[in-house]
Amino acid sequence: MSTPEELLDQLENKGYFIWDNFLESHTTKAISESWNEKIQNAELKKAGIGRADNYQVDAGERGDFIFWISKENTDEFVKTYLEKIEALITDLNRSFFLGIRDYECHFALYPVGTRYARHVDRHRSGSSRIVSFVFYLHENWHTEDGGHLCIYENDELVEKILPAASRLVVFLSEKEHEVLTTNRSRASITGWMLNK
Ligand code: OGA
Ligand code: MN
Repeated sequence: MSTPEELLDQLENKGYFIWDNFLESHTTKAISESWNEKIQNAELKKAGIGRADNYQVDAGERGDFIFWISKENTDEFVKTYLEKIEALITDLNRSFFLGIRDYECHFALYPVGTRYARHVDRHRSGSSRIVSFVFYLHENWHTEDGGHLCIYENDELVEKILPAASRLVVFLSEKEHEVLTTNRSRASITGWMLNK
């Protein structure tokens, strides 16, 4: 188990870190249950690729459905998550002078057989996304379930990360990454720390 200082060192040295047990499992479970209700109520929309002025959806490249989280209007369990993210932002700003001023996040659901092809979250022109973070909701996720988050460095795969429950992965948004095809329905909260 790494200390918070070690995790921040990893962000500086490798461009990402993995924080296991970011929330207690009962909180993750509660978030997962409220998310399941939203899925039942189908309050989801298909995620697009590209910037707002170049919005397009290609299900072969990106297969997830999303639901944006309102910071003001959400349940206590998601609030617990957001508060921990805000504390992390304070630490990151203190250590790296990243100038993070805000963040945004959404639930994401990848149905069986979908993926997100290799990409970066920080688009060359005008993106305010500095740091990406993904928090996974499914318990008992096994290698054969797929849906790994792959991190690349100089075109080479450096790590295949299992989307295990209560795991938070934090990476620089300019880093190349990919979601492998999932063999199970895959739920997460994905977010971005913004410099504006
Ligand atoms: C994204 C993304 C990674 C993941 O939504 O941009 O890369 O593991 N998600 O879900
Ligand atoms: Mn991404």
